[in-house]
Amino acid sequence: MFSKLLIASLVSLALASPTPAGLESRASIDTSTHCGQWDTVTATQYELLLDQWGISGATGSQCASLVSLSDSTISWKTNWTWSEGSGGVKSFTDIQLNQGINQQLSAISSMPTTWKWSQSSSGTVVADVAYDLFTSNTAGGSNVNEIMIWLANYNAGPISSSYSSSGQPVPVASDISLAGQSWNLYSGSNGANNVFSFLPVSGTITSFSGDVMDFLNLKR
Ligand SMILES: *[C@@H]1O[C@H](CO)[C@@H](O)[C@H](O)[C@H]1NC(C)=O
Repeated sequence: MFSKLLIASLVSLALASPTPAGLESRASIDTSTHCGQWDTVTATQYELLLDQWGISGATGSQCASLVSLSDSTISWKTNWTWSEGSGGVKSFTDIQLNQGINQQLSAISSMPTTWKWSQSSSGTVVADVAYDLFTSNTAGGSNVNEIMIWLANYNAGPISSSYSSSGQPVPVASDISLAGQSWNLYSGSNGANNVFSFLPVSGTITSFSGDVMDFLNLKR
């Protein structure tokens, strides 16, 4: 399997803060505000995607901007208000990694990552904050598996092939200890990909530090 990584937030509300700059090189990047449905902003190995794919019929708007880039640490923010429209996801505004992808998983020993974020909101928010990875059967091929690591679940829910009588998704594995946290794993199809979603057993993780390969190795 081959990897592709999105650092994403669904109907997004993430604000990622960089680690202190130290001796890192701070890149000159476009920090202007972008609000277009399909706007993108490239910053060296990363790309901000507005990706407002489900806004047809919805009321509201969303903007996003890059804040800073130091080596592999990127900071970005987004603000939004969405309502109405045809149910479901309005946007998946995210940071996509464009370099070093399409490698065979067996050739990757670790993918250490940290993510600090915060949000404020009013009203009822339906959102998640998540890492989103895709694997395929050939380098650069179409996505086959989608692996998500959710750090927050605000009235949303993972894709699941099984639901309880009260309508709750039923995990395929529970209380998995990884990256110093406890996770439930859900699986199901979105019609195109097998989706595997790790969700915190409880609460919200606003400061994550771990090795994404630990999650992928568990699945492999
Ligand atoms: C988001 O912030 C931008 C820049 O300050 C502003 O122009 C826009 O109206 C805001 N959008 C929402 C949905 O709050």
